[in-house]
Amino acid sequence: MFRIAFLISAIICCVCYAWWKKNKNYWKRRGVPFEKPLPILGNMLDVVLMKQNLAEVIGNLYFKYSNEPFFGIWSFTQPHLVLRCPDLIKQVLIQDFDYFVDRNVQCNEKVDAISSSMMFFSKNEKWRFIRRSTTPMFSSGKLKYIYPQIQNIAKNMVPFVGDRDDKVLFIKDVAVKYATEVVCSIAFGIDAHSFQDKDTEFTDIGKGVFEINLRNAIAAATYFSNNSLADIFKIKFIKSSLANFVSQTFMGIVKERYAGNSKRKDLVDLMIKFKNDYNLKEYEIVGQAMQFFLAGYETTSSTITFAICEMSLNKEVQSKLRKEIDASIENNEEFSYYTLKNMSYLHKVVCETLRKYPVVPFLGRTCTRDYQIPHSDVVIEKGAAILIPLLGIHNDPLYFPNPQKFDPERFSNENMAEKHPCTYLPFGDGQRHCIGKRMGLFVVKMALAHLIRNFEFEATEGIQVPFKLSANTFLLATDPIGVHVKKIR
Ligand code: HEM
Repeated sequence: MFRIAFLISAIICCVCYAWWKKNKNYWKRRGVPFEKPLPILGNMLDVVLMKQNLAEVIGNLYFKYSNEPFFGIWSFTQPHLVLRCPDLIKQVLIQDFDYFVDRNVQCNEKVDAISSSMMFFSKNEKWRFIRRSTTPMFSSGKLKYIYPQIQNIAKNMVPFVGDRDDKVLFIKDVAVKYATEVVCSIAFGIDAHSFQDKDTEFTDIGKGVFEINLRNAIAAATYFSNNSLADIFKIKFIKSSLANFVSQTFMGIVKERYAGNSKRKDLVDLMIKFKNDYNLKEYEIVGQAMQFFLAGYETTSSTITFAICEMSLNKEVQSKLRKEIDASIENNEEFSYYTLKNMSYLHKVVCETLRKYPVVPFLGRTCTRDYQIPHSDVVIEKGAAILIPLLGIHNDPLYFPNPQKFDPERFSNENMAEKHPCTYLPFGDGQRHCIGKRMGLFVVKMALAHLIRNFEFEATEGIQVPFKLSANTFLLATDPIGVHVKKIR
């Protein structure tokens, strides 16, 4: 018995070793420069040890391979090709999009039906269908329609912050409450009461998905680099308790709408129409609501946090923005849709925030047909994963001199005129770019306009600069930063 067990173990070890030997030479065989991997962990040791955020790890490698147009890494056991050259990035995202339609994440409908219905995860024809059908939900007409809801939430945020006058405020806590209110209102048509309650079930959804704990780390590793493990062990991207809560809440709201008990003409009504028009299953429509919640929650709250933290250090930027806000609304206490849209300095501040801190710090694609990289002998094979490292590109002095400086004027029309479009990609590009870009910008601008008009923010003495990026989220976020807040109106 012992002998058989020993023999089987020896065979398994030999097979694993042979496979590993082949896998670790993946990029060498293709003539691509690469970062030496560790067994199983690939180049993810610091991520696993929670020493660095994944974006920083890839960002550091971006600078290490500064003479190369692309280089190879391993996310755990899966090889990824990291693109550095803006022309090549343009080919992949835009010109040769048909070779790179899919994202390099896998989600199996049988294991996690709700997540697999999200636009972010869906592939090829299914993605085209969802994208085409939900695009009208993000038109400027719809944005104007939901504008008063977002404005009211921003107004409710002001007394909440005001109560902390003269105290140290963790701005991320406020931004998360604001973002929760906004996405609940947009995607679920409900008030989450975030400014009244300490934490609501809805804030728990966001935290539950974006925080890295052991469960989420395993889920992310399997979804982003080895989906067969997710299938074998039936690992869901979103844990069942959260998915059930969202499902029950959303379907409860849908039933109320059917019963004619609500008059909001919002995204929920459009999603119900989408379900009816195409005879979709319940989980498919819950997936869209979940998608909008998750896509809007962490992205907008982190952008607001980074912007306020930077302006607490750069007081001249803060004053200039306050002047623009005051001048724009003059005697009118309301921010109309067009007033907000026309604040050019506010736009530059948000652009500069997303340059320094691209909250979605890399773009991913899968090659769906063999693709010969232009002007090179390298062929990207069908199924290969591609990464575009936004944190590195946005902080490359070649494209943005003195990148650590927070300088909104980089985004003046004159300065941007000469820029390669693929050196600034906070919302991605091509047909798979962020569908919520306009909405996301609006949500962030609305919050900043209300905060800067009503409060002065100042850095606390011990503030760590550059900000320490949190190692325990998938997206870009800081470890908690406190700022002094003073009511000025
Ligand atoms: C500051 C706010 C936001 C930022 C920085 C951001 C950024 C991004 C990025 C970088 C991508 C990947 C694009 C690519 O692969 O080329 C993306 C995808 C996506 N975003 Fe956003 N996003 C934001 C807000 C939102 C909001 C408010 C929504 C919706 C409510 C949203 C919905 C989506 C969806 C559905 C996708 C997947 C699109 C597809 O696969 O076709 N995003 N976002």
